[in-house]
Amino acid sequence: MSDASESAVAEGMTEAQTRELLSSILGATPLAIYAKDTDHRFVFSNRMHLQLLGLPPDQVLRHTDTDLFGDEAAPVEEVTRRVLDTGRPIAKEFELTLGGEPHTFLETIYPLQTAGELRGVAGIATDITARRRLEDALRSKNTELEEALDTLERTQDILIEQRKLAGLAELSTGVAHEVNTPLHVGIMGSTYILDVIRELEEASHSDTLTPATLAQLTEQLKESATLICGSLQRAAELIQSIKQVAADRQGQTLRRVQLGDWLERFVRTLEPLARRAGAEIRTEALHNPAVMLATGQLEQIITNLVINALDHAFTGDCADPCVTIQLDQVGEALQVRVDDNGVGISEEARTRIFEPFFTTRRGTGGTGLGLHIAWSLTTGIFEGELMLRDKEGPGSRFQLTLPVGTASLDWAPT
Ligand SMILES: Nc1ncnc2c1ncn2[C@@H]1O[C@H](COP(=O)(O)OP(=O)(O)O)[C@@H](O)[C@H]1O
Ligand SMILES: [Mg+2]
Repeated sequence: MSDASESAVAEGMTEAQTRELLSSILGATPLAIYAKDTDHRFVFSNRMHLQLLGLPPDQVLRHTDTDLFGDEAAPVEEVTRRVLDTGRPIAKEFELTLGGEPHTFLETIYPLQTAGELRGVAGIATDITARRRLEDALRSKNTELEEALDTLERTQDILIEQRKLAGLAELSTGVAHEVNTPLHVGIMGSTYILDVIRELEEASHSDTLTPATLAQLTEQLKESATLICGSLQRAAELIQSIKQVAADRQGQTLRRVQLGDWLERFVRTLEPLARRAGAEIRTEALHNPAVMLATGQLEQIITNLVINALDHAFTGDCADPCVTIQLDQVGEALQVRVDDNGVGISEEARTRIFEPFFTTRRGTGGTGLGLHIAWSLTTGIFEGELMLRDKEGPGSRFQLTLPVGTASLDWAPT
């Protein structure tokens, strides 16, 4: 039996030996193998097939699948009929109940021919119930995970929105509180001015106004007016800062820019401020990608950081005061660093600088809102991070990390 045209070949064996080998292959295989005649009756059933059916050979042989399984056998009967009609093999999955348990089989049914004559079909079946259950379990786990992810994303959106609102509410309350002081100073100052004017009027009516009194009262008027002016300015600044945050939350306009070019151009507008503080501003754009950017908001953040460096960093005697703005691309995020070579920030202040109203310049023009606003724009509008980092040498480093692919920053379409 070594002719390749035969149904199988076996090296150096007699026909009896080959038959014995085939029979042990069929007996030992973990596949269920059977043959049926043209009336769909089983004429052969291997050990695995009998074992799966859980029946003795005489209850299987000469019976059909319908005899054994009733209506459940309709699909397998239908496929057997098609294989007999077309003479072509068909592979398909079937569901059958065995021993009271549902099972899934992957079965290949193919025609059996002898001397050109159709004798029936043979089938090879694998029980894939366990695999199918695993797939079903995986699929439902996957759906669960997708749902969980969906919920998580929605919760995250809500949290971001809430944080923005909470930030704004906190800021408004704080500003209302802070504005109180300058307003009181304003009211007291103007009441005092009215008193002085009344005094002036009386003196002039009764002709008792001496040049010395006039000079003294004028001096008092000037002092009060200066005080009122400063207070009102401070109140206006505080109000302006809530307007900034409130407006920036609605009015985001995305512009298509080459990031590096945009940074250079924008930083040039800050140069007059730097010159007044006797400092220099340098930019280092390591990348120049085309992006869609909420430019107004990023300008606001960088401006606040630069103004802080000019206001706070160069108070000591710094030989070469300089602010450096570096732009880099780190994976799917943009990184902007605002460095200065000034006095740095004390350990104590470090933990509080992003708090609203924290300032080391209370009474001399500090509102304590610059960093809070920069932080709230970074996290709220850009979904990014603003951190104070360590740096080599003197001074401070503020680092902005802005993820690309948000409503405020994305790669520009080509
Ligand atoms: N570049 C810097 N160098 C030194 N100190 C800084 C710098 N930036 C911020 N600070 C500190 O952080 C505090 C908070 O800053 P900010 O919120 O802008 O409020 P303000 O500038 O009104 O004081 C400042 O008062 C200052 O002490
Ligand atoms: Mg500031």
